[in-house]
Amino acid sequence: MSSAKSVRLALLGCGTVGTEVVRLLHEQAEDLTARIGAPLEIAGIAVRRPGRERGDLPVDPSLLTTDALGLIKRDDVDVVIEVVGGIEPARTWLVEALRAGKSVVTANKALLAEDGGALHDAAAEGNADLYYEASVAGAIPLLRPLRESLHGDRVTAVTGIVNGTTNFILSSMAATGAGFNEALEEATELGYAEADPTADVEGFDAAAKAAILASLAFHTRVTAADVFREGMTAVTAGDMASAREMGCTIKLLCIAQRGIGPDGDETVSVRVHPAMIPLTHPLAGVGDAFNAVFVEAEAAGPLMFYGRGAGGRPTASAVLGDIVAAARNKLTGTRAPSESNYAQLRVRPIGESLTRYHISLDVAEKPGVLATVAGVFAQHEVSIATVRQSGREDDAKLVIVTHSAPDAALAATVEALSRLDIVRSIASVLRVEGGAG
Ligand code: NDP
Ligand code: HSE
Repeated sequence: MSSAKSVRLALLGCGTVGTEVVRLLHEQAEDLTARIGAPLEIAGIAVRRPGRERGDLPVDPSLLTTDALGLIKRDDVDVVIEVVGGIEPARTWLVEALRAGKSVVTANKALLAEDGGALHDAAAEGNADLYYEASVAGAIPLLRPLRESLHGDRVTAVTGIVNGTTNFILSSMAATGAGFNEALEEATELGYAEADPTADVEGFDAAAKAAILASLAFHTRVTAADVFREGMTAVTAGDMASAREMGCTIKLLCIAQRGIGPDGDETVSVRVHPAMIPLTHPLAGVGDAFNAVFVEAEAAGPLMFYGRGAGGRPTASAVLGDIVAAARNKLTGTRAPSESNYAQLRVRPIGESLTRYHISLDVAEKPGVLATVAGVFAQHEVSIATVRQSGREDDAKLVIVTHSAPDAALAATVEALSRLDIVRSIASVLRVEGGAG
């Protein structure tokens, strides 16, 4: 510690989240000092454009700098808070800080999912704290429960809605019958979706969060590259109507599950994709841009975490919690729990994951069609749970829901169906989660 009187902070980034971190530090200064036992003091704020208009930000403008690395290296900095985002230069900055023994608080899910190992290794090298509560599900206290509270238990599954933008879009489609484009337009107008919504709607943001959650839940290093990812742009108003008919809704889910692989080895499955879930599932009622994560542990049973997963102030709340923890540790000379990756379970490919499919087919209406279609499922050892047929003559539609089967067998079934003459088109394929299989 450089100063006996205060804990000195270097803030990297002062945008949506950083601005609110500064405001909360200012508004709650007295309480924070009482809780920590020493005041928190901002030593400097690194930004890209120091001349940018920042409203009534309660800081001395002379604290702003473009030299992030110079700020990190200063002897009077105890804790580095990174709310810039992206892989580089954030990785270089944080590795430098951690190796030098400075505590790091970051909201950078992209970096943690891409190369969290580099940060954890640097933290171990520098005997430094690495906190990242804000990186998944914004304000919701979720990583600390996984990293600490549940460390006496065995987590079996983590299933979550961890992207607010897509949850807003899907909730709006379910409520109004709107199509994807219309709902995305509404999300953009309301400021939920970014100008380029690719990371959200294609599932990259949720996949990064899935990697972080799976790493913590299963004591295994999981990166974004290990996560099966499918976006939600193909979900149609028709899919949503079909889901409703089945007593379901559609959510973009992040799913991390323990399981047994074909060789009897213990594995984890980590995936992000849209899925039908029953309206009775705890995640079905999570609307608007809210996030929720359903954790199942052997002794604890089911646990539900719910709240705001994005936005400057909610995210800053999680950042502040980490700053308080890091500052307390600095004062008492203790350390946060370090990375736990002893299990190193194999991440099984999507083909080995067990799931159920909901398949809509446009078929010719003539005798034997149903038997031919059923035969394809049987050839691939996929058991059918329900079949519904509507329409007649040239306009017949079959909606088939399967029992649980390996994803590879289900995908091969769909591929074989697409090659049948009697199948005019495969209107949609959606995974079904959360019900009796
Ligand atoms: P913003 O784009 O609003 O802010 C980014 C900040 O970083 C800006 O202040 C910018 O400077 C600064 N910056 C960019 N590049 C540099 C650089 N090379 N050197 C110094 N400063 C730089 O991002 P957010 O606040 O939205 O997000 C920050 C982090 O928080 C990201 O990792 C994001 O994933 C994460 N997060 C965000 C949430 C949200 O709701 N926004 C929710 C949860 C996590 P300048 O101001 O001059 O442009
Ligand atoms: N774009 C993200 C979301 C921000 O919509 O949830 C929070 O990580």
